[in-house]
Amino acid sequence: MSFREDGAAALDWAARYLDRVGDLPVLAQVEPGEIRARLPASPPELGEPFADVLRDLDEILLPGITHWQSPRFFAYFAGSAAEPGILAELLAATLNSVGFIWRTSPASTELEALTLDWTAQLLGLPDGWHGHIEDTASVSTIAALAAAREQTGGRVVVCSDEAHSSVERAARLLGLETRKVPLDDEFRLRADAVDLTDAAAVVATVGTTSTTSVDPVPELADACEAAGVWLHVDAAYAGSAWVCPELRWSQAGVDRADSLVVNAHKWLFTPMDCSLLWTRKPEALRAAFSLVPEYLRTSDEAEHLSDYGPALGRRFRSLKLWAVLRCYGRAGLQARIREAVRLAELFEGWVRGEPGWEVCAPRRFSVVCFRHEGSDEENEAIVERVNRSGELFLSHTRLNDRYVIRLAVGNERTTEEDVRRAWSGILGVAPDLA
Ligand SMILES: Cc1ncc(COP(=O)(O)O)c(C=O)c1O
Repeated sequence: MSFREDGAAALDWAARYLDRVGDLPVLAQVEPGEIRARLPASPPELGEPFADVLRDLDEILLPGITHWQSPRFFAYFAGSAAEPGILAELLAATLNSVGFIWRTSPASTELEALTLDWTAQLLGLPDGWHGHIEDTASVSTIAALAAAREQTGGRVVVCSDEAHSSVERAARLLGLETRKVPLDDEFRLRADAVDLTDAAAVVATVGTTSTTSVDPVPELADACEAAGVWLHVDAAYAGSAWVCPELRWSQAGVDRADSLVVNAHKWLFTPMDCSLLWTRKPEALRAAFSLVPEYLRTSDEAEHLSDYGPALGRRFRSLKLWAVLRCYGRAGLQARIREAVRLAELFEGWVRGEPGWEVCAPRRFSVVCFRHEGSDEENEAIVERVNRSGELFLSHTRLNDRYVIRLAVGNERTTEEDVRRAWSGILGVAPDLA
C-alpha cells in the first residue's frame, strides 16, 4: 500500500470515528493491564502493513480509549479537537519541522508569534505582549515561575488551595516554597490574607480546576506591584472564554499580570497539546532560559522561541491553532463558547429545580458543581455508576470537605440532548442509592 492509500484509509478512519464517537462508551470499560495483555510482548522482526495498525487500533486499542471527543464527556475540563486542528496535526507531522532556532523553521517561529498575537486580539489582551507556545500549562507555569525567580530573587510562590497542582509542582522543581492563601466562601483566594514576604510570584487563577472560581486579580496586582512580586495568571481553562465580551468581567486586572497562560487545547478547540504563554517581560524569560551552545550560533537577526522555555526542540504547534482560528473565526469561537455556557446554565437550573439536589459553588462558566443530599459515599457511587454505564463521564472534587460532582461542558459536539441524557442518567442511578 502507498502513503496515499494508507493516508486515505486513516482519514476515513478518523471521519468514521468522529461520526460514531457519541455511540461509544465514554469512559473506557477495561481493567488495568487488559489492553497490554492483548498486544504482542515483542516488536515484529519484519515490517507489517499500515492496514494492520489500523485494524488493531479498531479491535484492540479502541476499547481502551476514553473518548475525550465524545459529546457526553463531561469530566475534568471537557474540550474538543476541531477538524481543522486535526488535519493541521497531520500536516505538522508531515513537515516534521523542529523549530529550535529561527532558521530551523522560520515559518514555524513566525506563525507562532502571529497566532499568539491573533489570539491575544481575540481575547482582548493588551497589545505588545510576547507570546509563545508550550506543550502544557504545567510547563508554561514552570517557565513563568523560572522568570519570576530570575527577576525577583524571591523564594516563595503564593497561591490558593484551589490553584492547580501544577503550580506547586513547578515551585518544587524550581526549588521554591509554596505558600497557600485561604479561600473566601466562593473558593477565591483571599487577597486580604496574602503574605508576600520573600515572594517571587503570586499565581492567581481565573477559572480554578474544581469550581472555576476567579481569584481577585486587581487586588493581587496592586499587592504585587507594591512589593515587586511577579504576577502569573493561570487562565488555562477560562481564558478562552474571553473571546466573548460578556465573559470578560473575569479578565479584570489581567492586563497588569507579568505572565498569563491559556490552554488552547482546553477550550479553544485545538488538539492536545497547545498551551499559550504570554508575558509583558520577555527579557525575564530569556534571562531564565537562553543558553546558546556553539552549534546553534547564527548571525540571523531573529527571535529563537526556545529562549523562552525549557524545551529546545519545538513542534509546529501553531499550525493547528492557526487552522482553528482561520476556519472558525471569532464568530465561530464565540458561538461554541456561548453554547457550552448555555448548556451548563440549563443543567444548573435542572439541578436547582430537583428536590434533594444542590448546586455547591457559583457557576461562572461551563462547569456545574453539585451533589445529592446523601452521604459522600452515595455521591461517589452515583459517579461510579454513571461512568460504568458508558453513557457519560463525570469527575468530582471536594469542597468544604464534602464530595462534590462536577459536570463540565466544553466539547463542541455536545448538544442539549446530550446534557439532558446526562441528567436523566444521573437521576436514573440516584434512587437505587436511597
Ligand atoms: C487551572 C488549571 N491550570 C493548569 C492545568 C494544567 O494543565 P496541563 O494539563 O496543560 O498541564 C489545569 C488542568 O486541568 C488547570 O485546570
